Amino acid sequence: MKERIFSGIQPTSELHIGNYLGALKQWVELQNNYECFFGIVDLHALTSNSYEPKKLQEQILNVAFDYLAAGLNPKKSVIFVQSHVPEHTELMWLLNTITPFGELSRMTQWKEKVRIPDKDTRILIEQNNKRISKIYKDESELNKNKDLSQDKLYRLLSERVEKETLLPTILYNLIRANAGLLNYPILMAADILLYKACVVPVGEDQIQHVELTRDLARKFNNTFGQTFPEPKAKITEAKRIMSLSDPAKKMSKSDNEKSCVFLSDSPDKIKEKIMGAVTATSGGNESPGVANLFTLLKEFSGAETYRKFHEEEKSGKIKYSELKEQLTHAIIDYFADYRKKRAKLKTSEVEKILAQGAKKARPIARKTLKEVKEKMGLI
Ligand code: AQP
Repeated sequence: MKERIFSGIQPTSELHIGNYLGALKQWVELQNNYECFFGIVDLHALTSNSYEPKKLQEQILNVAFDYLAAGLNPKKSVIFVQSHVPEHTELMWLLNTITPFGELSRMTQWKEKVRIPDKDTRILIEQNNKRISKIYKDESELNKNKDLSQDKLYRLLSERVEKETLLPTILYNLIRANAGLLNYPILMAADILLYKACVVPVGEDQIQHVELTRDLARKFNNTFGQTFPEPKAKITEAKRIMSLSDPAKKMSKSDNEKSCVFLSDSPDKIKEKIMGAVTATSGGNESPGVANLFTLLKEFSGAETYRKFHEEEKSGKIKYSELKEQLTHAIIDYFADYRKKRAKLKTSEVEKILAQGAKKARPIARKTLKEVKEKMGLI
């Protein structure tokens, strides 16, 4: 019997090359050797800042188009929309009751998401910054006649600025953050455990959530009796693609346009984005922007071209504009087939595939939920 896989992507926007290299590409390969369930996890997308009810159906379809055009095959894999299988949310509630709050609050994604300043928060920070610059001015005046070095003064003030601006921002975001964002990993655990999946192919950012899923599976089994396998994350070599405009951050759908190459971008758009990618270096080391371009080059141009540019980098002869040109052409070529396939797909055909997917997923989901409810004394 084949081992089972579950993974999914949120329909928060178009899929980008990070989603492709971290997740979708390996799904296409894995569907030959595993029994695969791939969700369009729309319930997760409701927690996003960019969620707009009027756009959601279109975004769900867009992800389905991307899945199919990139090579997922409905004859080999079950492709469905998460909210079409209501057992996901019911299992989530049951798992909620065994999840420690402390575990959720230490999740990196939660911490990152609550710190993202939205418009209101930015206004708050700005007001704070004005107050801080006043403190800075007063303090400089005060210290004019003391023998405190400018460096030390600057350090003291930086620490103070951090305390004064960061803490209110975090507190403000924490109070306003929707509880769904905190509980996100429990829904993800329910997605995986509902199908008793053993393998979860994801990008690096999701490993922590898969580990929490393992913990919950173990805890459930110990408390109520053996029910779930403990699933393992499966990651690729290109497990974390960084943003093109700010390579310190990972490439994200909900970030600005220039930071991502979307799978559905036209060749002109791909060129504009890659040619505009940040490569700034400091201190002679390879910058994160350049390292990211090299990762992409290896994936899309192959090992030989990658080696050639690496040699040029080592000998100091590299021209980043040439590397970017090469990468642009490689990405355009790589997704030529995808663009052709996507243009041919029809909405009615894709909707039918999703309906059939939910029909296949539901009996399995119902069976697991029944077993869980029995073990928990609910039936
Ligand atoms: N930059 C990335 N590099 C490699 N893998 C990535 N993934 C996401 N970004 C990268 C992987 O893609 C899958 C789908 O992710 P998701 O949509 O469920 O949520 P996410 O990880 O939060 O992705 P985004 O693009 O950053 O979405 P938003 O902006 O909506 O939060 C996962 O397997 C993920 O690891």
